[in-house]
Amino acid sequence: MSPRAIRGHLVDFADDPHVAGAAACRAVEDGIVVVQDGRIVAAGEAAELLKTLPPGTGIDDWRGKLVLPGLIDTHIHYPQVRVIASYGAQLLEWLERYTFPEETRFADPAHAAGEAAFFLDELLRNGTTTAVVYCTVHPGSAEALFREAQRRRLRLIAGKVMMDRNAPPGLLDTAEQGYADSEALIARWHGVDRLGYVVTPRFAGSSSEAQLEAAGTLLREHPGCWLQTHLSESPGEIAAVLGSFPWARSYTEVYDRFGILSGRSLFGHCIHLAEDERRRLSETGSVACFCPTSNLFLGSGLFDLAATRRSDRPVRVSLATDVGGGTSYSMLATAGEGYKVLQLQGQSWPALEAFYQLTLGNARALGLDGAIGRLAPGFEADLVVLDPAATPAMAHRLERAEGDLVDTLFLLVTMGDDRAVAATYVLGEPVHRRPPAAARAPTCGKVS
Ligand code: GUN
Ligand code: ZN
Repeated sequence: MSPRAIRGHLVDFADDPHVAGAAACRAVEDGIVVVQDGRIVAAGEAAELLKTLPPGTGIDDWRGKLVLPGLIDTHIHYPQVRVIASYGAQLLEWLERYTFPEETRFADPAHAAGEAAFFLDELLRNGTTTAVVYCTVHPGSAEALFREAQRRRLRLIAGKVMMDRNAPPGLLDTAEQGYADSEALIARWHGVDRLGYVVTPRFAGSSSEAQLEAAGTLLREHPGCWLQTHLSESPGEIAAVLGSFPWARSYTEVYDRFGILSGRSLFGHCIHLAEDERRRLSETGSVACFCPTSNLFLGSGLFDLAATRRSDRPVRVSLATDVGGGTSYSMLATAGEGYKVLQLQGQSWPALEAFYQLTLGNARALGLDGAIGRLAPGFEADLVVLDPAATPAMAHRLERAEGDLVDTLFLLVTMGDDRAVAATYVLGEPVHRRPPAAARAPTCGKVS
């Protein structure tokens, strides 16, 4: 295929600015990303690269806007697209009252297929080109999502939830069935195109010892796969888990016992951890997923980023939406809420660090930093174009940034959301362009 060039203000990271300083950010004010056969073949100064393009190369001109690697969401539940914004409950009650009833509907493959398509549209509208996704207990829910992601040529990691207790009968598997279904899905989908499988015991509160053992076994038997679960999210959840595993001194010890801590294991939330739990996460290279909008919405608690950066036991970190406990699909809005969660604890999160996390940082958390997360030759050409003047209020505030890129990025994390996503590219092809104006809802209903 002939090359395509995408022109704009390029921004990406060669390293973590928290460690390497501002020089880790590489910005080219008038730059071009040249894409061929789905990969980046060159990225740099437009003045230089324009001369090298074959005649007739199509150029998408986004000058005045930022071109970055596609955003990465490391923890999100696609069956919860209708659970988002459910009123008035904390985690365990929220699961029972809203989430479990909705997830039972995914026994129907047609329902799953429709929700999968909606979900992926929504990710792309928000500039998210890679996500790590919880499906439901039904293998068909994962089938539906993988099929839809394959059709769109996405890089996506997903897994069927394993849960064999403390949920309605329509949402339970068994240790044996959960193992067999996960293994069949791994055989069918892991490593196919850009798809990957993540072994997904929902959380220790909904899995028996036998099932956690099976999950640990799957992780060991399929070292290219990932594992995801929830850990130390809310006080009520922690008490329930410790009640179910009376031999455990901590929540983390439950997973540790079954070999679930690893460099490919992603733990949602990790809010109320004791020192020895952080130490085990650190020693095993496990990843703590910071999900700020969810933690605020469900009243779960405040993620302690500083505690993950202690030099004697650093914990790898990622950032995620956790829709539908989370309240926004936008990784920009998620970073903005993350900033506030850290403010509440007297911690800072400079915009360069937030944008690093949204791109290369999250790619590193997944061990995919050789494939996605940078604008460099050989990387997959998943891109997002961000408009820092997306709304009148943003445009007005942008004037005060006076060309300061760090301030412009901070404006984007503080005020940005899907409206700031001018375009999204998957493997070099545009898959979303922001429409000119939002459609009006037909009705907002009555007070019932
Ligand atoms: N813990 C177990 N299941 C869930 C879930 O679906 N969402 C959140 N936020 N926490 C969980
Ligand atoms: Zn979650």
